[in-house]
Amino acid sequence: MTSDVRLGVLASGKGSNLRNLVERAYSVVAVATNRPSCGAAQFARERGLALGEFSQRRFASREERDMAMLGWLCRQGVELVVNAGYDRILSPCFTAAFRGRILNVHPSLLPEFAGGMDAVERALASGVRTTGCTVHLVTDDVDAGPILLQAAVPLRSDDTVESLKARIQAEEHRILPEAIEILAQKSPSLRP
Ligand code: GRF
Repeated sequence: MTSDVRLGVLASGKGSNLRNLVERAYSVVAVATNRPSCGAAQFARERGLALGEFSQRRFASREERDMAMLGWLCRQGVELVVNAGYDRILSPCFTAAFRGRILNVHPSLLPEFAGGMDAVERALASGVRTTGCTVHLVTDDVDAGPILLQAAVPLRSDDTVESLKARIQAEEHRILPEAIEILAQKSPSLRP
């Protein structure tokens, strides 16, 4: 049984983590994107999920955009924010409002390969034997907030970026819901 915590998912990419949460019957009450044409936004439209489009060009600054996004998420009654392939750094005004209630999934064993959107490429190029993924709380230090869960993924000698990403994502789809459960149980009321 999944918790009924009201999730707001921030996404910029293809949206497999979003899809996984919806398929596992999580209560995704809002999807916010900075890239209205991304796969995650398309999925939200198909499923009739509340979709907030926050392209940076409509706003004078990152803070302005994040404040607008924050207000919209609060109006949807979001209790827990999940960054699932969101490719922007959240401003302190946003992280302060949802302190301890923002999760991020990153495709490496943090603190290895922190920062940027190319952690899988860097792991493959570095020659490490094992990489993986991490779910952590978001703070103002990028990819450095408290870690909730990690999963290791051994590299294979014939791995390509695509094959490695696929195995890492399979683990993300397992540990992100687990991390949501951990947070939901730890703080039964995630309401602001
Ligand atoms: C994931 O690999 C996540 O770790 C990274 O961005 C990717 C998003 O994938 N932050 P998807 O859009 O959920 O398929």
